[in-house]
Amino acid sequence: MRTYLVTGGAGFIGSNYIHYMFDKYGDDIRIINVDALTYAGNLENLKDIEDKPNYTFIKADICDGKKMMEIFKEYDIDRVVHFAAESHVDRSIADPDVFIKTNVLGTLNMLNAAKAAWENEDGTFKEGKKFLHVSTDEVYGSLDEDGGYFYETTPYDPHSPYSASKASSDFLVKSYMDTYGFPANITNCSNNYGPYQFPEKLIPLMINNALQGKKLPVYGDGKNVRDWLYVADHAKGIDMVQEHGKLYETYNIGGHNEKQNIEIIHTILECLREELPDDDPRKAHINEDLITYVTDRKGHDRRYAIAPDKIKAEVGWEPDTMFKDGIKKTIKWYFENEDWMKNVTSGDYQAYYENMYKDR
Ligand code: NAD
Ligand code: TYD
Repeated sequence: MRTYLVTGGAGFIGSNYIHYMFDKYGDDIRIINVDALTYAGNLENLKDIEDKPNYTFIKADICDGKKMMEIFKEYDIDRVVHFAAESHVDRSIADPDVFIKTNVLGTLNMLNAAKAAWENEDGTFKEGKKFLHVSTDEVYGSLDEDGGYFYETTPYDPHSPYSASKASSDFLVKSYMDTYGFPANITNCSNNYGPYQFPEKLIPLMINNALQGKKLPVYGDGKNVRDWLYVADHAKGIDMVQEHGKLYETYNIGGHNEKQNIEIIHTILECLREELPDDDPRKAHINEDLITYVTDRKGHDRRYAIAPDKIKAEVGWEPDTMFKDGIKKTIKWYFENEDWMKNVTSGDYQAYYENMYKDR
């Protein structure tokens, strides 16, 4: 039975990935989920699988190098899928230090622990062992409004502390591949959306605010473009890269779904009006008047857009979910899981929101 070590599996993409993998492989795999449970980690995301005999949760910080070594000693890990990171650009602007610690030093620890466990005495690596580093298209910087795409060969040009920390972690992984022949891949994915996303990010924040009749804060002119991918398609891409990709290669993951932020917000309002039953009291306040233009994010990247040609050609990956279906599924999920939203927005979230949005 193949054993996966997933870091950050209690977060948005990590938990969707774990669901995807158990749906696909059932009891043929074992998953060890290592997560520090920061504000972004939530074991409720994994409630339905927590009792599976082939699933183990370990609460641990990837910055604890000794602990990471111990985990590799205790379990014979075949695959690492490394999600754990600080992931929100606005938080990185307000407080960059933890981004460097977790994203750079944490990744270094994961590389060192895997290398120590997998390297043979002659410097080769044990057969079949693979590390996948999950990264972002934001490392490539910003594109002009009128054209261009991010290819795997696009030079790195990060602008936020978040993207700079992810770029640094990518370079560390590349250096381990080039120096030691460490068996790894890097994936750089576009913006994800779907169930279990923490409501600090655009889509769940707008859904949550709209349902509560709160203002929808649009940064700048609302015309920044992101390339949106349904999270299960990202999970599928990661698995396909580990199964069919060439070792040592980087693959961009994206589905050619570019949208301006303001378009996304209009779509969310439309879908909410369509999906909410007529007698739902929340329906009354779902309208365009909630849209409020606020001070722009500092250093705000204008446009991201992935060219997924390589992953299509070499790995055979293509997304399954069209945006119009994915956004409906997502909105429906947030309706049906009001308690989830209530739980994650109680406590610290209120202070975060107040602090991040009060002077905008
Ligand atoms: P998230 O913030 O929802 O989840 C991060 C998870 O990592 C949480 O469960 C958190 O508890 C855990 N974590 C944080 N610090 C840790 C530490 N020191 N030790 C152990 N666990 C720790 O993030 P996400 O949106 O699921 O993103 C996952 C990964 O995918 C990140 O590496 C991110 O850079 C990358 N990515 C995200 C997107 C996106 O649109 N969200 C797109 C491309 C790539
Ligand atoms: P976000 O979800 O934070 O992802 P990223 O910055 O990593 O792409 O933001 C997506 C886009 O939405 C980005 O252009 C910033 C914008 N945005 C707003 O306009 N208002 C908001 O309240 C948030 C959180 C984001």
